[in-house]
Amino acid sequence: MSIRTPLCDLFDIEHPVLLAPMAGVSGGALAAAVSNAGGLGLIGGGYGDADWLTRELDAAGDARIGVGFVTWSLARQPHLLDLALDRAPAALMLSFGNFQPFIANIGAGETKLIVQVQTLEQAREAVDAGVDAIVAQGTEAGGHGGARATLPFVPAVVDIAQDIPVIAAGGVADGRGLAAALALGAAGVLCGTGFFASNESLASFNAKRDALRASGDNTERSSVFDMARGLDWPDGWNLRTMRNSFTRQWSSDIEGLRQNLPEEQARFEAARNLDDTDIAPVIVGEAADFVRVIEPAQDTLHRMVTQAKDQLQRISRLVAPHSEG
Ligand SMILES: Cc1cc2nc3c(=O)[nH]c(=O)nc-3n(C[C@H](O)[C@H](O)[C@H](O)COP(=O)(O)O)c2cc1C
Repeated sequence: MSIRTPLCDLFDIEHPVLLAPMAGVSGGALAAAVSNAGGLGLIGGGYGDADWLTRELDAAGDARIGVGFVTWSLARQPHLLDLALDRAPAALMLSFGNFQPFIANIGAGETKLIVQVQTLEQAREAVDAGVDAIVAQGTEAGGHGGARATLPFVPAVVDIAQDIPVIAAGGVADGRGLAAALALGAAGVLCGTGFFASNESLASFNAKRDALRASGDNTERSSVFDMARGLDWPDGWNLRTMRNSFTRQWSSDIEGLRQNLPEEQARFEAARNLDDTDIAPVIVGEAADFVRVIEPAQDTLHRMVTQAKDQLQRISRLVAPHSEG
């Protein structure tokens, strides 16, 4: 038995599982590993660095992969889109910002357009624009995101999406999450945290080590790291990370951080260079509960699919007709 959904047909993949385009973490090797294992890997184009993107596209080799961008940042350097589209990726994913200016360009070729949304209003906009797939991202997600929880948000987006496949994201890192997403009406899942500690991930040594020990209990959303990195994020999104001494000091005193910014930015940069994760962020979400080994991404993906099949079979037995005794 395999799990086949409209997402498999859309992207011509075996398993309805996508690797999230995690900035600085989902490079070519990780994207290729997920694609070669039967899912679809997306390279994290992030805030845009042409050299980095070229190197990681090369690192993916012949694998059929996609690329994701942070939309508001792409608007400042739109040439990066052409750099990605020149490689004819299977998918282009846009998140966080106005995707409308890029639609015509992406729709011109074989590349499918995925838009990640955090509100129903954004979902309606994506439907009206005729995108190929919508990622409904719940607040449980690692990285940037909004306020809606995955459980009610995904089916609400499914209701809006009509025939457009909806991909659930935020808190899915094992087969129970995949099975639950399908039960909510999603056609598949997009996972970041679950692949964060893969062998192929570009996350730092200490970040992977911390992720293995992490629990969803000690993650939180805040803007402190964006301020420290000098990233000018628009309102409506903030960053879920593990708590550390930097969040403990500043997340409830953002004004204090602003007033001490030059010194704190210097301290932050030094920590990043030293891979000191007591100050630098470990960007994982609530699904950190399920990140317990550093292993090839292929093993994570196959375990997830096998477990989802078991869950779906177990659930279907619950509704099998019972003999009337
Ligand atoms: C380390 C990390 C970096 C991320 N970077 C990006 C990014 O650059 N662009 C983006 O669209 N989403 C990014 N995300 C969010 C993912 O697209 C996705 O919504 C999220 O990982 C799903 O939730 P999960 O972490 O529980 O799997 C990132 C997530 C993580 C964990």
